[in-house]
Amino acid sequence: MTAKQNARALLCALLFVGELSLAGSLSSQGMRGIIRKESFGKAASGARIDLYTLSNKKGMEVAITNFGATVVALKVPDRAGKAADVVLGFDTLEGYENGTAYFGATVGRYGNRIGGGQFSIDGKTYTLPKNNGNNTLHGGIVGFNKKVWKAIAAKDGESLEMSYLSVDGEEGFPGNLSVKVAFTLPADRNELKIDYTATTDQDTVLNLTNHSYFNLAGEGNGDILDHVLMLHAKRFTPVDKTLIPTGELRDVAGTPLDFTTATAIGKRISENYEQLVFGKGYDHNWVLARAESEKGLTLAAEAYDPKSGRKLEVLTTEPGVQFYSGNFLDGSAKGKGNKAYGQRAAFCLETQHFPDSPNHPNFPGTLLKPNSVFHSQTVFRFSAK
Ligand code: GLA
Repeated sequence: MTAKQNARALLCALLFVGELSLAGSLSSQGMRGIIRKESFGKAASGARIDLYTLSNKKGMEVAITNFGATVVALKVPDRAGKAADVVLGFDTLEGYENGTAYFGATVGRYGNRIGGGQFSIDGKTYTLPKNNGNNTLHGGIVGFNKKVWKAIAAKDGESLEMSYLSVDGEEGFPGNLSVKVAFTLPADRNELKIDYTATTDQDTVLNLTNHSYFNLAGEGNGDILDHVLMLHAKRFTPVDKTLIPTGELRDVAGTPLDFTTATAIGKRISENYEQLVFGKGYDHNWVLARAESEKGLTLAAEAYDPKSGRKLEVLTTEPGVQFYSGNFLDGSAKGKGNKAYGQRAAFCLETQHFPDSPNHPNFPGTLLKPNSVFHSQTVFRFSAK
């Protein structure tokens, strides 16, 4: 720590009351984690928005805003120990308010698509606003990514807990859904652990995920076609041309979606395989091996950037992962440092239940009932070699 940071930490220790409600930053003499709080501006609604930066002594830093419970920056060292920000994003709140790509956001109430913007529970049909052709994408017109969340520090300063109440009828979904997303940066490991918890007062459906866009060479540093990817999945859910699953679970063997052995993302991305044509590249849900045989937190995906040596491992309790190769990025939205993020400037590994599950009884269920608690966990673990 620099002298300035030390002084700041001391000041913060004096201010610290557990709740991140005080102006200025706060942290932690004697606490395990360090959380710095600063203003991220005022939303168009007038709400004051903050930016919280968690850091550890292993060289990792994660900045999260309570606008959309969004990961704004994620700095991790390369093989030479040099840190870079490996997620796409914006320098300002305005970028996130106007953004359409879900950079770093918490996505809900239902991540990915619901076909025809409709589903039924117990014979009652719910109609959602359509925001993606004939479908509802990522929770609808104003998803959780555009909501203002409440933040508190927890777990000895290692965690930042964000909470949000999605009221009955919001974006067409039934039930008051109380959601908590806890972001944890352990003091001794370079990983971001995300815990999702939710309860409802009526039967509803939910699918929560984080939509970080990774470029392990550093955001804005070219495309990710040379990144080498491994997905621990033997099957995927093929889609129609509007990216709604057909219901089939197809073997990846013999297709360009086979990442059971480490393969460069760009190697087969332009093949004339109908699924790749529909997705304009990779934009599919893989059925994780864990969904078929294992319980608990298991390894879902591994991505490696040979240039920097940075490696990302994704572990999850979810049954699926949407691997999206940034096909819709077109450089039109200017990111951090005014950089244009072009097509395939990053990839997403969105751990989740399968898209359109409410309309596919053969997929793992996404129904949440009153009196039961939803919990799901995903870990983004970093290393370099
Ligand atoms: C998900 C979807 C993609 C795209 C992105 C956001 O990954 O599957 O089709 O909508 O989100 O741009």
